Amino acid sequence: MAIDRDLFKSVLRRWASGVTIVTTRAGGRDHGMTVSSFSSVSLDPPLVLVCADKKANTLPAIAESGAFAVNVLAQGQQALSNRFAKIGNEAERFDCLDCRRGPSGSPWIPEAHAVLDCRVAAVHDAGDHVIYVGEVLAAEIDETSEPLVYYDARYAELAPRSA
Ligand SMILES: Cc1cc2nc3c(=O)[nH]c(=O)nc-3n(C[C@H](O)[C@H](O)[C@H](O)COP(=O)(O)O)c2cc1C
Repeated sequence: MAIDRDLFKSVLRRWASGVTIVTTRAGGRDHGMTVSSFSSVSLDPPLVLVCADKKANTLPAIAESGAFAVNVLAQGQQALSNRFAKIGNEAERFDCLDCRRGPSGSPWIPEAHAVLDCRVAAVHDAGDHVIYVGEVLAAEIDETSEPLVYYDARYAELAPRSA
Protein backbone atom coordinates (compact mmCIF):
# COMPACT_ATOMS: atom_id res chain seq x y z
CA MET A 1 0.00 0.00 0.00
CA ALA A 2 1.41 3.39 -0.96
CA ILE A 3 2.06 5.69 1.99
CA ASP A 4 -0.18 8.72 2.33
CA ARG A 5 1.75 11.64 0.79
CA ASP A 6 0.67 14.23 3.39
CA LEU A 7 1.50 11.91 6.27
CA PHE A 8 4.90 11.21 4.71
CA LYS A 9 5.61 14.95 4.40
CA SER A 10 4.42 15.57 7.97
CA VAL A 11 6.75 12.93 9.35
CA LEU A 12 9.70 14.37 7.40
CA ARG A 13 8.93 17.79 8.90
CA ARG A 14 9.31 16.19 12.36
CA TRP A 15 13.03 15.69 11.69
CA ALA A 16 14.94 18.54 13.37
CA SER A 17 17.93 19.56 11.30
CA GLY A 18 20.40 22.33 10.73
CA VAL A 19 20.16 24.57 7.69
CA THR A 20 22.87 24.87 5.03
CA ILE A 21 23.41 26.91 1.91
CA VAL A 22 25.07 24.77 -0.76
CA THR A 23 27.15 26.96 -3.07
CA THR A 24 29.24 26.55 -6.19
CA ARG A 25 30.89 28.66 -8.89
CA ALA A 26 30.12 27.93 -12.55
CA GLY A 27 29.70 29.88 -15.76
CA GLY A 28 31.51 32.87 -14.27
CA ARG A 29 29.07 33.42 -11.40
CA ASP A 30 28.16 32.13 -7.98
CA HIS A 31 25.17 29.84 -7.38
CA GLY A 32 23.59 28.63 -4.18
CA MET A 33 20.47 27.14 -2.62
CA THR A 34 19.18 26.42 0.87
CA VAL A 35 19.45 22.74 1.77
CA SER A 36 18.52 20.93 4.98
CA SER A 37 19.02 17.41 3.62
CA PHE A 38 22.72 17.24 4.43
CA SER A 39 24.42 14.31 6.13
CA SER A 40 27.81 12.96 7.08
CA VAL A 41 28.70 9.79 5.14
CA SER A 42 32.26 8.62 5.84
CA LEU A 43 35.24 9.64 8.01
CA ASP A 44 37.92 7.95 5.88
CA PRO A 45 37.78 9.19 3.24
CA PRO A 46 35.90 12.27 4.49
CA LEU A 47 32.56 12.23 2.67
CA VAL A 48 29.27 14.10 3.09
CA LEU A 49 26.07 14.19 1.04
CA VAL A 50 23.44 16.71 0.05
CA CYS A 51 20.12 15.90 -1.55
CA ALA A 52 18.61 18.30 -4.08
CA ASP A 53 15.42 18.44 -6.12
CA LYS A 54 16.07 17.63 -9.78
CA LYS A 55 14.31 20.91 -10.65
CA ALA A 56 16.79 23.02 -8.64
CA ASN A 57 18.68 25.51 -10.81
CA THR A 58 21.80 25.00 -8.70
CA LEU A 59 22.17 21.37 -9.83
CA PRO A 60 23.50 22.03 -13.34
CA ALA A 61 25.96 24.51 -11.84
CA ILE A 62 27.32 21.83 -9.46
CA ALA A 63 27.46 19.36 -12.35
CA GLU A 64 29.51 21.89 -14.35
CA SER A 65 31.93 22.84 -11.57
CA GLY A 66 32.25 19.38 -10.02
CA ALA A 67 32.44 21.07 -6.64
CA PHE A 68 30.34 22.61 -3.87
CA ALA A 69 30.58 24.09 -0.40
CA VAL A 70 28.18 23.26 2.42
CA ASN A 71 27.73 26.42 4.51
CA VAL A 72 26.13 25.53 7.88
CA LEU A 73 24.10 28.57 8.86
CA ALA A 74 24.40 30.27 12.23
CA GLN A 75 21.64 31.43 14.55
CA GLY A 76 20.35 34.72 13.15
CA GLN A 77 20.87 33.78 9.47
CA GLN A 78 17.19 32.94 8.80
CA ALA A 79 16.94 35.78 6.26
CA LEU A 80 19.81 34.26 4.26
CA SER A 81 18.14 30.84 4.41
CA ASN A 82 14.93 32.37 3.02
CA ARG A 83 16.82 34.36 0.38
CA PHE A 84 18.55 31.25 -0.98
CA ALA A 85 15.24 29.35 -1.03
CA LYS A 86 13.16 32.00 -2.80
CA ILE A 87 12.23 31.35 -6.42
CA GLY A 88 13.10 34.00 -9.02
CA ASN A 89 15.90 35.87 -7.19
CA GLU A 90 18.78 33.64 -8.31
CA ALA A 91 20.82 36.52 -9.76
CA GLU A 92 20.58 38.56 -6.52
CA ARG A 93 21.18 35.87 -3.91
CA PHE A 94 24.84 36.84 -3.41
CA ASP A 95 24.21 40.61 -3.33
CA CYS A 96 26.14 42.29 -0.48
CA LEU A 97 27.79 39.01 0.51
CA ASP A 98 31.58 39.31 0.64
CA CYS A 99 32.41 35.62 0.23
CA ARG A 100 35.78 34.00 0.67
CA ARG A 101 36.50 30.93 -1.48
CA GLY A 102 37.61 27.46 -0.56
CA PRO A 103 40.05 25.32 -2.56
CA SER A 104 37.17 24.14 -4.77
CA GLY A 105 36.45 27.76 -5.81
CA SER A 106 32.99 27.60 -4.19
CA PRO A 107 31.88 30.69 -2.23
CA TRP A 108 31.89 30.56 1.57
CA ILE A 109 28.96 32.45 3.11
CA PRO A 110 30.20 35.12 5.58
CA GLU A 111 29.55 34.40 9.28
CA ALA A 112 28.33 30.86 8.64
CA HIS A 113 28.64 28.58 11.68
CA ALA A 114 30.78 26.08 9.75
CA VAL A 115 31.75 25.22 6.19
CA LEU A 116 32.82 22.11 4.30
CA ASP A 117 34.43 22.62 0.90
CA CYS A 118 33.97 19.60 -1.37
CA ARG A 119 34.66 18.12 -4.75
CA VAL A 120 31.93 15.92 -6.20
CA ALA A 121 32.89 12.27 -5.54
CA ALA A 122 29.66 10.60 -6.73
CA VAL A 123 26.15 11.40 -7.96
CA HIS A 124 23.18 9.12 -7.29
CA ASP A 125 19.74 9.27 -8.83
CA ALA A 126 17.05 9.11 -6.11
CA GLY A 127 13.46 9.56 -7.27
CA ASP A 128 12.71 13.24 -7.81
CA HIS A 129 16.00 14.19 -6.09
CA VAL A 130 19.71 13.76 -6.79
CA ILE A 131 22.22 12.81 -4.09
CA TYR A 132 25.58 14.54 -4.40
CA VAL A 133 28.38 12.91 -2.42
CA GLY A 134 31.25 15.30 -1.75
CA GLU A 135 34.82 14.56 -0.71
CA VAL A 136 35.77 17.22 1.82
CA LEU A 137 38.82 19.29 0.82
CA ALA A 138 38.68 21.91 3.58
CA ALA A 139 36.66 22.71 6.68
CA GLU A 140 36.20 25.61 9.07
CA ILE A 141 34.19 26.30 12.24
CA ASP A 142 33.18 29.63 13.79
CA GLU A 143 33.36 28.76 17.48
CA THR A 144 31.74 32.07 18.43
CA SER A 145 28.35 31.25 16.86
CA GLU A 146 25.58 28.71 17.41
CA PRO A 147 23.83 26.79 14.58
CA LEU A 148 20.45 27.66 13.10
CA VAL A 149 17.89 24.86 13.63
CA TYR A 150 14.90 23.94 11.43
CA TYR A 151 11.90 21.92 12.62
CA ASP A 152 8.33 21.57 11.32
CA ALA A 153 8.81 24.35 8.73
CA ARG A 154 10.03 26.86 11.31
CA TYR A 155 13.40 28.10 12.53
CA ALA A 156 14.50 27.39 16.08
CA GLU A 157 17.46 27.80 18.40
CA LEU A 158 19.37 25.29 20.49
CA ALA A 159 18.68 25.38 24.20
CA PRO A 160 21.52 27.06 26.13
CA ARG A 161 24.33 24.71 27.18
CA SER A 162 23.78 23.36 30.69
CA ALA A 163 26.60 24.10 33.13
C1 LIG B 1 14.92 25.41 5.40
C2 LIG B 1 14.90 24.95 3.96
C3 LIG B 1 15.47 23.74 3.62
C4 LIG B 1 15.47 23.29 2.29
N1 LIG B 1 16.07 22.10 1.99
C5 LIG B 1 16.10 21.66 0.72
C6 LIG B 1 16.76 20.45 0.39
O1 LIG B 1 17.31 19.76 1.25
N2 LIG B 1 16.80 20.06 -0.91
C7 LIG B 1 16.19 20.80 -1.90
O2 LIG B 1 16.25 20.40 -3.07
N3 LIG B 1 15.55 21.96 -1.62
C8 LIG B 1 15.51 22.42 -0.34
N4 LIG B 1 14.89 23.60 -0.04
C9 LIG B 1 14.26 24.36 -1.13
C10 LIG B 1 15.27 25.11 -2.02
O3 LIG B 1 16.11 25.93 -1.25
C11 LIG B 1 14.51 25.98 -3.05
O4 LIG B 1 13.73 25.14 -3.88
C12 LIG B 1 15.41 26.88 -3.89
O5 LIG B 1 14.59 27.81 -4.59
C13 LIG B 1 16.24 26.12 -4.91
O6 LIG B 1 17.00 27.08 -5.61
P1 LIG B 1 17.53 26.88 -7.10
O7 LIG B 1 16.35 26.33 -7.92
O8 LIG B 1 17.99 28.23 -7.53
O9 LIG B 1 18.64 25.89 -7.04
C14 LIG B 1 14.86 24.07 1.28
C15 LIG B 1 14.29 25.30 1.63
C16 LIG B 1 14.30 25.73 2.96
C17 LIG B 1 13.68 27.06 3.30
